[in-house]
Amino acid sequence: MKKIFIAITIISYLYASACTPTTYRIYEEHKHAENSDLSATEILHLEFDTTRRVLQILENASNCLDNGKPVSKETFNEIIDIINGFIHKCHQEKEDRLLFPFLKNVRGGEKKDFLGQLLMEHVSARDEIRNLAGAVNYIYQGKKAKKKVTKIARAYIKFMDKHIRMEEKVLFPWMNKVLTRDEQMILITKFEAMEKEDIDAGVHEKYTAMIERLEEQLGVCAE
Ligand SMILES: [Fe+2]
Ligand SMILES: [Fe+2]
Repeated sequence: MKKIFIAITIISYLYASACTPTTYRIYEEHKHAENSDLSATEILHLEFDTTRRVLQILENASNCLDNGKPVSKETFNEIIDIINGFIHKCHQEKEDRLLFPFLKNVRGGEKKDFLGQLLMEHVSARDEIRNLAGAVNYIYQGKKAKKKVTKIARAYIKFMDKHIRMEEKVLFPWMNKVLTRDEQMILITKFEAMEKEDIDAGVHEKYTAMIERLEEQLGVCAE
């Protein structure tokens, strides 16, 4: 009976923990989010699928602009809204507020500098997006203004790509090595509590619909 209760509890956490809820997951591989063996590492890693899609949308919007195809201020602001809400608030805040302090706690000073570097990169990423939002305000003021938007957008994409690869190469394997299964489960519980507290109901669905629409709208500028 106790085992069944634990299994149900674990599954219910998994349903709510990933930033994109099960019913709205687009990629097939997300289906294994229903698997109760999923770890906190895998939850964070799965969120990169959506992150990469959003970065591709930003790249496509920049290509459109470069090729003289119209992209409205509103479209860029929608992309910025998704980046702030999904990549920064949903994903990076889990790392900043929960994962990094937890790792510091259970692993002492191990990889302290590395975790500090990742934290600083999140700060820089948010700064870049603030710059992008500023540049987007002037998007209709000629070629130079458009160039500024695409320059900042591409710098952000490059920066995030490097950050993601670093987490895939170093952070996630390290987490898998040092965290016990129980510690992974504690983290999942913390992720779930944070999402419940900070992220409004329906927000994931809203972003998923926006991502799908923008992929279709800007797909013509994919290179
Ligand atoms: Fe991450
Ligand atoms: Fe990160």
